[in-house]
Amino acid sequence: MLGTFELNRIYQMDCVEGMKMLPDDCIDLTVTSPPYDNLREYKGYSFNFEQTALELYRVTKPGGVVVWIVGDETIKGDETGTSFRQALYFKECGFRLADTMIYHKTDVAFPRFGHKKYPAAFEYMFVLSKGPIKTFNLIRDRPNKLVGQVMSGTVRQSDGTVKPSRANGKTVSEFGARSNVWGYSTGKGKSASDAIAFNHPAIFPEKLANDHILSWSNEGDIVLDPFMGSGTTAKMAQLNKRKWIGFEIAPEYVELANKRLLNGGRTA
Ligand SMILES: C[S@@+](CC[C@H](N)C(=O)[O-])C[C@H]1O[C@@H](n2cnc3c(N)ncnc32)[C@H](O)[C@@H]1O
Repeated sequence: MLGTFELNRIYQMDCVEGMKMLPDDCIDLTVTSPPYDNLREYKGYSFNFEQTALELYRVTKPGGVVVWIVGDETIKGDETGTSFRQALYFKECGFRLADTMIYHKTDVAFPRFGHKKYPAAFEYMFVLSKGPIKTFNLIRDRPNKLVGQVMSGTVRQSDGTVKPSRANGKTVSEFGARSNVWGYSTGKGKSASDAIAFNHPAIFPEKLANDHILSWSNEGDIVLDPFMGSGTTAKMAQLNKRKWIGFEIAPEYVELANKRLLNGGRTA
């Protein structure tokens, strides 16, 4: 239980109302994407950003992390900048802005005629922490070009001089740490391994949720998504043996997510 809520369930309610019923310092990790600007129509529902940010800070455990995934609308050639304003407000609430990561939609390849800008192919993933981060499981899946070679480099110092690298003499391993730009194929048949998810207009990729869950939490930890949508965060938390809880205001999306989560997230 978490307050009066059972774990591993989605509650059909406004997320601020829901989070107000959670105890202080009870969530290890939040992975979420709120409705942003007017990029998608979610059946007319809105949310109170400031209250959401304050509640997220209160319910996050010391050392816990919130991953806030957002983009901006462009209106008459002018980006709203909402994402930046939100990131700065999270800092005012007490969060550290631990990293500004990029979610690169690797399949976006076509220019949008009529717009004097390049096709938008990324969203921000703000990694916010309540004090120093307690869990960081670095993902090492970037193939090293120099695999097998013995390192013998130099590192430039702040005064301009160079010194031999501390890594010298070690053999380059097959994989290095990935960067903070994460690329995913998006769209039907790619963002999710089940067909049900695509009945929601704005899912994020399962793999993206998976990678954040692996990075910032351990088995048995509690993962929150206050804007659960089709249940992507819940599905990947479940498959990775985390506990989870979520809120979603639209009854039809709660129903959709619950179908997706049948059989422990291993739907067809
Ligand atoms: C960007 S979508 C989330 C999609 C989700 N990450 C997924 O992969 O399916 C945002 C969701 O927030 C829901 N929502 C909007 N206002 C809300 C509120 N005040 N409280 C809870 N959910 C809300 C919308 O109905 C929508 O499903």
